[in-house]
Parts: sequence; structure tokens; C-alpha cells
Amino acid sequence: MNIIKSTTLLLFSSTILGCATNNDTVDSRLQNAEKQLTVLRTASLQENNIPRSTNKEGGIRWIETPYDWTEGFWSGTCWMLYEHTKDNQWKEAAIISQKLIEHHKDLTNDHDLGFIFNNSYGKAYRITGEEQYKQVLVDASNALITRFNEKVGCIQSWDVVGNWQAERGWRFPVIIDNLMNLEMLFEVSNITGDSTYRNIAIAHANTTMQNHFRPDGSSYHVVDYDPETGEVLHRVTAQGFADESAWARGQAWALYGYTMCYRYTKDKKYLDFAERIANFILTHPNYPEDGVPYWDFNAPNIPNEIRDASSGAIMASALLELSTYTNDKYLEPALHILNSLSGDTYTAEPGENGNFVLKHSVGSIPHGNEIDVPLNYADYYYIEALVRLKERRL
Ligand code: GLY
Repeated sequence: MNIIKSTTLLLFSSTILGCATNNDTVDSRLQNAEKQLTVLRTASLQENNIPRSTNKEGGIRWIETPYDWTEGFWSGTCWMLYEHTKDNQWKEAAIISQKLIEHHKDLTNDHDLGFIFNNSYGKAYRITGEEQYKQVLVDASNALITRFNEKVGCIQSWDVVGNWQAERGWRFPVIIDNLMNLEMLFEVSNITGDSTYRNIAIAHANTTMQNHFRPDGSSYHVVDYDPETGEVLHRVTAQGFADESAWARGQAWALYGYTMCYRYTKDKKYLDFAERIANFILTHPNYPEDGVPYWDFNAPNIPNEIRDASSGAIMASALLELSTYTNDKYLEPALHILNSLSGDTYTAEPGENGNFVLKHSVGSIPHGNEIDVPLNYADYYYIEALVRLKERRL
């Protein structure tokens, strides 16, 4: 990117962010976030644990054992703040917290290894270039690809015996979120020169494109396959309002996922698909004025439904990347979401909200879990979006 364009953009974005937030700039938003998360960092180091959300008493909810799909986001957040501030305390916190989860790299009973390791060790490797982080990514990718089934053309998300949702009787469930695990596979192919990882990522992206979407560009949450024939058995939901609804975070993962697939492949079909998903989101009659979606686009009591700031943050970060491939076509909606998230409605006052940055996210309403709370991944994607905006770097 040339310097003039980059400077102009920074001014433009600062102006837009400034308009509705009393002259706050991207920098000051990052500083506010850092200040808030510094308190969380102290708590995390004292507890030697990884913050996930808040509990019913308003204290910190730490990650769950034996493993937790959100456990990589905190170290990733620390890495981003280290990269932005060059303050070694963030680097130390990142290293300590990712060490706590390193032994999960060989797990083969769940698909979340990309979420966990790409956002922690992946950030570590990209930011520091240190070889020691590479092998963890390779090991985690080797574990992840054991779940790939050639007949289906996908990586299986959840085990069907003894795992979450096992009672549903599915045979080979694949959730839309799984697209996010592909980034680690693309990265590891680049790092190692072994195309196996990339080929699996492409197969998964293509099968998902074929089976997970409705004609309007919205996505189902879960597609259950026959592992012997690859036939689609069910299209349903786990965390959305209904099987035929558009769960907000699922749409956000899809948008981010296909934008990322385009980054690594330059295959235009992924770019077109990401734009189709963006179009579904941004033109939906239930997409609210402030750009931070309701937890499900088809939730029955809109406008009296809960918002999901985590979906807004993921969408903002994805739209910023998509903008770089489309002559800034999605820059304004991305800035609009960020502007809303940065205002008083969604950004916590210092010392509140368990010292997380963003309020009003949703884990899973059907499970009565984490409703209208802060979430470590909401903060992660919010900070990623701010850093992307500031540096215009992807
Ligand atoms: N990947 C799990 C979720 O988005 O809630």
C-alpha cells in the first residue's frame, strides 16, 4: 500500500471514529483498551489462568477444563498489544498464557485447534519470527487434519460420542465456525512448503460453500454428513434461534472465513462469496442501525433482542480485510461498526465489565450460556480490527 493512500485512510478513519466519539482516534481507542486489559493481565498472571468472560457474580470466568475453544484468544490479544505498544509486559503475558495451553496441540477429538493455536502461537510466530513457535503450529495442524474425511471433503467439527451435542445423534457434524480453523492450515503450508494442509483447507472451504449456504447468502450453523458417502443428512442449528435462521456469529465466521480463503488462494470465487455474505449481512432488514447485530438475524422479538458485540467485532475485522480487495467498498460499514463498538453502549467504563473491553456479547442463547456478557474473543477481534485499521496491514 502506498504511503499517501495509507495516510489518507488513517485520517479518514480517525475522522469517522472521531465524529461520534468526541474526537477519539484509533490510537486512543487502542490506548483505552490497553488500559482496561492491563488490569485483566495482572489478574491473569496472579491466577495463572486465561480469562474467558465474567461469571454471574461479576468476577472473571476462567477458561474451562479440559480444554476450551476460546483459550488462544487471550494470548493473541496480548501479542497484538505487544506488537502495537512494544511493551515487553504484553509479550511476557502472551508467552505465559500460551504456555498454559501448549499441551493441547495434539488433541484430535475436536476441531478448534485453529482457533486455539493460530490465534496464539500463530500470532507469536508472525510477530517474532521465532522458530520455537513453528513446531507447535505444525503439530496442531497435524492433529487437526486427522479429522478430515475425504468422502465428505470436510474436517469434522465435533465428535459424536461423548462430546458437546452428542445427544443430537449426528454422524459427522461440521459447523460454519470451522472455516476459521483453515487459516492455520494455510499458514502451515506456507511455513513448511507442504501443500497437504492447504489442499485440505481448500477442500473444506469448497464443500462448505456448496452445502452450508442458502440462496440468499446466509449460512446454516451445522451440516451433518454421512461419513461413508459424504451425503448431507441434516442442516440444523446448535447456537442459533432455529434451523432455518441466520445465527449472527455464524454469518460473521463465514464472512471472515471466505475473505481469509481469498487472502491465501487469490481464487476469485472466495472473494465473490465473501461479498455475497457481506451483502446478506449489510442489507438484511433486521441489521440494526448501529451495525452491531442481534444475536440471530431471525430472532423472534427484534428489536427487543440481545445484541452480540462479538459478531460485530468479527464482522468489522473481516470487512476491513475485504475492503483491501475491493477498493475500500466495505470500509464505511466496517468503520461504522467499530465506531458503535467504541461508544459508551458497548465499551466498558474503566474498571467495569470484569476489565474486558466490550460489553454485550452472547455465547449461546439456546444453552443459556454467556448471555449479554463480555467475551475474550469479542475483545480479540475488536483489537484486531483497530490494529488492522491503524496499520492497514493484514
Ligand atoms: N465457535 C463457537 C462459537 O462461535 O460460539
